[in-house]
Amino acid sequence: MVEGKRIHEATATPLGRKPARILVVDDDSTLNRFLTAHLKLAGHSVTSASRWSQAEIALAQSEPDLVLLDLKLPDADGLEKLPTLSETCPVIILTAFATIDHAVEAIRRGAVDFLTKPVNPNAFDLAISRALSASEMKREYELYKRQAKSAADMTLLGRSPQMAQLKRMINVVGPADTTVLVLGESGVGKELVAAAVHEASPRADKPFVEIDCATLQAALFESELFGHEAGAFPGVERRKEGLIESAEGGTVLLDEIGELTSQLQAKLLRVLETGRYRRVGGTRDLVANVRFVASTHRDLKTLVERGDFRADLYYRLTGFTLEAPPLRDRVEDIPLLAEHFLSRRHFARHATKAFSANAIDALMRCAWPGNVRELRNVVERAALMSGDSPTIKPSHLGELAGGVSTKREVVFAFDHPPTLDEITEVYLDRLLADKTLSRTDIAKTLGVSERNLYRLINARKSAQDGVS
Ligand SMILES: Nc1ncnc2c1ncn2[C@@H]1O[C@H](COP(=O)(O)OP(=O)(O)O)[C@@H](O)[C@H]1O
Ligand SMILES: [Mg+2]
Repeated sequence: MVEGKRIHEATATPLGRKPARILVVDDDSTLNRFLTAHLKLAGHSVTSASRWSQAEIALAQSEPDLVLLDLKLPDADGLEKLPTLSETCPVIILTAFATIDHAVEAIRRGAVDFLTKPVNPNAFDLAISRALSASEMKREYELYKRQAKSAADMTLLGRSPQMAQLKRMINVVGPADTTVLVLGESGVGKELVAAAVHEASPRADKPFVEIDCATLQAALFESELFGHEAGAFPGVERRKEGLIESAEGGTVLLDEIGELTSQLQAKLLRVLETGRYRRVGGTRDLVANVRFVASTHRDLKTLVERGDFRADLYYRLTGFTLEAPPLRDRVEDIPLLAEHFLSRRHFARHATKAFSANAIDALMRCAWPGNVRELRNVVERAALMSGDSPTIKPSHLGELAGGVSTKREVVFAFDHPPTLDEITEVYLDRLLADKTLSRTDIAKTLGVSERNLYRLINARKSAQDGVS
């Protein structure tokens, strides 16, 4: 090997790493053998191909972590293969034609790097190492993103009797492997309910994947869900596994299932009934080992009556139905949710803010037609609007859909007619939670002396201690 030119300056150092699966595609047998031996020596698992047709077979068998691709192959032009190939894994281009044009074009078509022949071993090691760390970082980032989502955003909050009931139902239906239908208005948290069903099931440590029936085009829906064989569409040269396959052992959420076309409803019914499906363009039946959860904000029954939704699919889905209640029916969850969305912003901005009691009141009086999603948006906007102020006041909340009256209306929500003591407790808790109010302010608001206020607080404390 003689001196090779590199297009990019080296910025990373080679380091010891996990063995990777690498595919070397080059018809220069001497170079191919050398690169293969060199990579194997570094502990990688290497497949070599001297023609594109061989590469295709290798790619169909397993997905490599990295491909080294010669631009000029006897049966293909590497540049033409690049766009599709680089979608599935990083590709480093090898070529004897050291022109900057080739390099630019290869990078433009998705190559991560470019090496000219003859290949310099040091430059080669560096390119491999860089490409693998970049893809490893990307994978870790994806994983991190998923975990962050599951930890912070996937917890179903709410202490209202309605939510407590819903959570009990989730714990009943979770472990059973039946199909579940989640109903509820837009923004009530149907996706979180579906995720909670998954978490409560023996499949919890397997993937939870969502497919959005509302936004996916019909043609894509099928290949997303079932996957496709190589050649199923013009220009598609590789087999792709569908969501059902990638969720193996886990749960698939069919989000907003009411939006599916009747053709897709029929295809879905087949999987639900038989547990079998086919990749697009495939002839073989595959067995689905997933649990299905569906959700919709629509009244499916009416859709069935109008002939817009298949009755047989409807009955398949409605074996077990969970209903996520609208936010206006569980007003007492509003403070908790508002605090939650505000604290998520703290995490991002390292600043602590709190709601004034008036702001919480205003939030509790709103009708929330957009439910929890709307509340989240209002809280995030209010956190911005309040600027440097540590307190979020009603003026920061903007126009609320329920309309906020200037009358001092205090909303209490109980699941039973409350006693006077209970009202006192809740009202006291709420005033104490408002960090902008001093004890003197609170006593004044309640119309009691400060001494009496402390008596009330102590009584409240010992009642709480008695409970816990
Ligand atoms: N009970 C809840 N606890 C915490 N966050 C919630 C809750 N319900 C909804 N959310 C949040 O509100 C937003 C909308 O929820 P989503 O599940 O997408 O609603 P839907 O699918 O019913 O339209 C999401 O950001 C979600 O995290
Ligand atoms: Mg949704």
